[in-house]
Amino acid sequence: MVYNEVSSQLRVLLVGDAVGRPGRRALKKFLPAWKREGRADFIIANGENSAHGKGISGDTASEMFDAGVDVITTGNHVWDNKDVFRFIDDEPRLIRPNNYHPAAEVPGRGYGVFECETTGFTIGVVNVMGRVMMEPLECPFRTTRAAITQLRQRTNIIFVDLHAEATSEKIALGWYLDGTATCVFGTHTHVQTADERLLNQGTAFISDLGMTGAHDSVIGMKYESVINRFLRGMPSRFEVAEDNVQLRGALVTVDPDTGKAISIERVVEKLGG
Ligand SMILES: [Fe+2]
Ligand SMILES: [Fe+2]
Repeated sequence: MVYNEVSSQLRVLLVGDAVGRPGRRALKKFLPAWKREGRADFIIANGENSAHGKGISGDTASEMFDAGVDVITTGNHVWDNKDVFRFIDDEPRLIRPNNYHPAAEVPGRGYGVFECETTGFTIGVVNVMGRVMMEPLECPFRTTRAAITQLRQRTNIIFVDLHAEATSEKIALGWYLDGTATCVFGTHTHVQTADERLLNQGTAFISDLGMTGAHDSVIGMKYESVINRFLRGMPSRFEVAEDNVQLRGALVTVDPDTGKAISIERVVEKLGG
């Protein structure tokens, strides 16, 4: 493949929370070309909302892998679709937040080591959940540093998906891991931030990748039902929105010799409809 001959760089595409069928449709529409044209060697996508907006099933995980996703990360919605318990222990390419207490014996894995098929490079991926306005899991800072210490025995190319609400917590973790992770990227808010940058020791950072799904919505759900909940203060059923479908994320270029990031840029692909 030409792009490997002219460059020893590794290109990793990060894709923000894919919501429901519209999100999966965007993955199927856009990702094959990213790989085929050599714009991405490896793809990490958040799939916690891939099944009807809540959770992930065996079928939606398969659809994501078939579209070209190499590793699926998750977050607070990982357990919402019970089908996940059937396959998470047998699917190393699906990871869940790493910072559950070890004694809790939570199914699945919080991080993993993966081989990039096209380049042969080894890539570590960690998933971790923030604690500000989220469930009180174990310390995301210490647990992620410990995971990185383990991963660095195998590779110096390490991506961290920090699934969290607060930008302050995400930015703090970015600085805390600067120079030890290749990239720290945020997910969960479904709103893409414009703060992508390289930190001082070579870690690429963005507070949130944004959402892959319908953007004429409130974070992926039909806005009428969400407005109704705010107006009435009563529970109302949310439905996955379908209009103005976009893929949002970031592209990170990596120097495989050092494991440091060379660049990070936001990605927006519009399906329309
Ligand atoms: Fe999400
Ligand atoms: Fe989330």
